[in-house]
Parts: sequence; C-alpha cells; structure tokens
Amino acid sequence: MRSDTTRPDDVGRGDGVPEHVGVLGGGRMGAGIAHAFAVSGSRVTVVERDEAAAQAALERIRRDLARSIERGLAVSLDELLARVAVGTDAAAFADAGLVIEAVPEDPELKRSSLARIEAEVSPEAAIATNTSSLSITGLAAGLAHPNRFIGLHFFNPVPASGLVEIVLGEHTDNILAAAARNWVTALGKTPVTVNDAPGFASSRLGVAIGLEAIRMVEEGVASPEDIDSAMVLGYKYPIGPLRLTDIVGLDVRLGIAEYLHSQLGERFRPPDLLRSKVAAGELGRKSGRGFFDWSTEGAESL
Ligand SMILES: NC(=O)c1ccc[n+]([C@@H]2O[C@H](COP(=O)([O-])OP(=O)(O)OC[C@H]3O[C@@H](n4cnc5c(N)ncnc54)[C@H](O)[C@@H]3O)[C@@H](O)[C@H]2O)c1
Repeated sequence: MRSDTTRPDDVGRGDGVPEHVGVLGGGRMGAGIAHAFAVSGSRVTVVERDEAAAQAALERIRRDLARSIERGLAVSLDELLARVAVGTDAAAFADAGLVIEAVPEDPELKRSSLARIEAEVSPEAAIATNTSSLSITGLAAGLAHPNRFIGLHFFNPVPASGLVEIVLGEHTDNILAAAARNWVTALGKTPVTVNDAPGFASSRLGVAIGLEAIRMVEEGVASPEDIDSAMVLGYKYPIGPLRLTDIVGLDVRLGIAEYLHSQLGERFRPPDLLRSKVAAGELGRKSGRGFFDWSTEGAESL
C-alpha cells in the first residue's frame, strides 16, 4: 500500500530539480542522467566502481554537454562542468535530495547498490532506480524505507529522449510520486506513471511488437524491410520494430524477453530466430548485422 508518511527532500518545493543529485554508475545511462540534471541546474555527483570508470563517466558527460552547447544550449561548458563531480565514494551522496542507481541490469548488483546508497543518504533523500525491467517492489525489498524508493526509467540517449517512465512500487510514497513528476517536467521531459509490472509500459509493449515482428520473419510472412515499412508508413511508427530491435541490440532484447517470458508467460517466449541470431553474434547495429546490414552508414535490408 502506498503511503505519504515521508517527505523526501525537495518535495513540496514546487517546481524544479533537486539541488544535489547523486548517480551511482556513470555508464551510458548514468552519464545521460547526470547530463540532464546538470543542464537543468542541479549539482550532480556520479559515483563509479573505480577511478578509471569515474574518469570515463566524466568524459562521457563532458562530451554530451559540449554537444548540447553546440546545439544551442546557452551556458558555458565550464559552468556546466562545475556542477558535475565524479568519484568512487558513495559518502558523497550524504546531502543529495535524490540518488539514482544506474548500474548494470543485474538484480543482485542492483540490490547491493541500493543498500549502499541507503546507508549513505540522509533520511529525507529519495532513492530511484533506472532499471528497464526489474520489479521496483522486488528491488525495494532490501531497503529499510521502501516508501522513499521509485523507478525513474530514462530512455537512451537521455539528452534526446522526451520521456521518463515513473514506476511506482507497492510502497512508493504518493508525495514522492508527485515530486518525481515535477522533477521530470523540470528536466523538460514528459513523465508517464506506471504501476510496477514486468516491463512497465514501454518495454512490455515495445518488446511484444518486436517479438511478433521477429516471428513474422521466421514464418516467412514478409521481409524485415516490408514489415518495418508496414508499421512506419501504415501506422506512422517513427521506426520499424526490426530496425529498433537492431538499434537496441538483439542480446538486450533477448534478455528482456526472457525475463518477461518468466513473468508473463508464453506470449513473451523468445523466437528461435532471435536466439540463433544472438548465438551467431548478429546483435544488430553494434555488431554490424542483425535483421539489417549496418556495416555501411544506414541499415541496408538483408
Ligand atoms: N542502455 C539503454 O538503452 C538503457 C535504457 C534504459 C534503461 N537502462 C538501464 O540502465 C542501467 C544502466 O545501463 P547502461 O546501458 O548505462 O549500462 P552501462 O554498462 O553503460 O553502465 C553501467 C555503469 O555502471 C558502472 N558500475 C558497475 N558496477 C558498479 C558499482 N558496483 N558501483 C558503481 N558503478 C558501477 C559501470 O562501470 C558502468 O559505467 C541498467 O539497469 C539498464 O537496464 C538502459
């Protein structure tokens, strides 16, 4: 049952992002999240597993900030970088109003990381996870105060994405949910609120369409090119489900499909074609080949 017994920091202050935001894990998503909050005025601290990874995170953030300035953001790079700190000690989260976990999608690693965050933050701080599929209620099980925990599912690449899925666990505080919507709006993105369920709204529906498209290729219904064109031109999808699968990565899609299959049953069983392509190293854009050939600039139909 959700409650409104705690008042996470910054809640009730109306609009705006938290003054200090912590991010655990500064990879692709963590760096993007740090970028988003820094651009919106927060001080951001990214904690990584070692010094080399921390410096790599800083470089990712610096590159993204520089690109935003090239595209018209009217703030100097020095000013933006002054808002960003990186390190390896989670004690730096002590005065953060919000800490977002963005370590790899491994339930055990997530749970230990969240416990580590909770041990360092103030009692008023909110804690979030950027998991793309794991149960928020399940991840909250190891926390002493699960009411201050919420899912903030950012999309890749964060700077260019207009959406954040806010995922409410069974114990997530209603006031925190409202604050999260304010934070996302202050980032210039649109929040959608989802009750905790496998795959949330986005991954569940996106993967369902992607898997069905793969089954259609498997059954010889049409070519990948024609299936994608049907959705792009017939249904006004911005990108076809098979090209999108290639961009996300077939291995990533397979991992989510296996999880959804275990949670939601047969309709998410991964097609054999997906498994065989992953086994063959055809992972999509990152390997040069998936349902399309990416070895040249664009995606050529195979
Ligand atoms: N990549 C996407 O498209 C995408 C989209 C939405 C959500 N997500 C989710 O975001 C999370 C992160 O994904 P990613 O793509 O950024 O992964 P990534 O591998 O790029 O980054 C993960 C980072 O976590 C760091 N890390 C690992 N263990 C750590 C520890 N113990 N302490 C601190 N840092 C540690 C790694 O050094 C790495 O920099 C995952 O849960 C993923 O499911 C990913």
